[in-house]
Amino acid sequence: MNFLLSEEHQMMQNMVREFALNECEPTAAQRDEDESFDIGIWRKMAELGLCGIPWPEEYGGAGADYLGYVIAVEELSRVDASIGVTLSAHTSLAGWPVYKFGTEVQKQTYLRAMAEGRSMGAYCLTEPGSGSDAVGMKTTADLDGDEWVLNGSKVFITNGGYADIYIVFAQTNSELKHKGIAAFIVEKSFPGFSVGKKEKKLGIRSSATTEVIFTDCRVPKENLLGQVGEGFKIAMATLDGGRNGIAAQALGIAQGALDHAVRYAKERVQFGKPISKLQAIQFKIADMATKIEAARLLTYQAAWREDKGIPYGLQSAMSKLFASDTAMDVTVEAVQVFGGYGYSREYPVERYMRDAKITQIYEGTNEIQRLVISGYLLKD
Ligand code: CAA
Repeated sequence: MNFLLSEEHQMMQNMVREFALNECEPTAAQRDEDESFDIGIWRKMAELGLCGIPWPEEYGGAGADYLGYVIAVEELSRVDASIGVTLSAHTSLAGWPVYKFGTEVQKQTYLRAMAEGRSMGAYCLTEPGSGSDAVGMKTTADLDGDEWVLNGSKVFITNGGYADIYIVFAQTNSELKHKGIAAFIVEKSFPGFSVGKKEKKLGIRSSATTEVIFTDCRVPKENLLGQVGEGFKIAMATLDGGRNGIAAQALGIAQGALDHAVRYAKERVQFGKPISKLQAIQFKIADMATKIEAARLLTYQAAWREDKGIPYGLQSAMSKLFASDTAMDVTVEAVQVFGGYGYSREYPVERYMRDAKITQIYEGTNEIQRLVISGYLLKD
């Protein structure tokens, strides 16, 4: 067993760390304040080859691996979790299902465009009335000649509006429940596709989150992803890996908050000495760092399993659960280390605390992760 990062993974870490510090950090607070998504940062990520890290070069990817990808999401999120989730949703939720279930033509068309960063991807599962109960979706897909006709709406879509390619799940026969669901690759330009309201959020405010609406949206037959009836399995299998991307985001948020807390504790003088000399602060720092290290081991392990072709759904649910709870705990403590200044928007830790909360909710709430984990352990 070797817990050291390879030279390639260290290079990825250093490259993305430098990118995040130079290109994302200077504007992170302002973009959060303005709730504005910066497409310029996305274009720079594409130039750097970050948009298709785990995909083979034959599909326009970097030919690296999932561990390299989670390291990149972690490093981006250490500075700005909004940028982290943009890459995570694009790669794990939109690229992955095309890579695993797409035809060769779909991969050459859509995966390549996403991997090269010419197109951004999004994943459309959640609806106003179906969040955790994903099978309860109401969006329909009916075959009409050579086209599927989609009707319905999806909410909380990360990258909504900026994405060019949407992986959409819809019901072809509601009597069949999950066995009637199909997955589609929908282009933003397809007739009947529109972007609805933009969400006003507590955190990750500079990531784009919108509703997307399908009104007799016509999708060519060849854009069916997998088979009719396979859609729910595609959705769930996609989330198996996606959840580890969120674990990486949570890990980055926690690490970033700890970095700020350590720096501040050494500078802030109270009672005639830096507060880092006080045991109350030392204990907090120790607990924060220990939880982060455990979250990192779970997250890297799940990615490593995926790279080795070993089942990873259980480990991904665990990494998402633990890393997101860690992000919440650590960011709350980071604010406490900063005291009153931590509560002020002049310092970044309150943003980290607001950003952390969503990692306990999206890509399956942590209650759903517990169902998934116990399901693996208790199945007959
Ligand atoms: N891989 C492949 N197939 C799977 C699977 C997996 N990981 N998990 C379940 N399935 C299959 C099952 O085998 C079963 O198939 P069969 O009937 O053929 O055996 C079928 O799917 C139905 O499984 P369940 O009976 O377990 O389904 P369920 O209705 O009880 O739901 C659930 C299970 C875990 C609660 C699921 O609905 C779920 O994960 N809900 C949460 C949804 C979610 O995570 N949403 C996140 C939205 S995306 C997002 O947040 C993106 C973003 O913005 C960043």
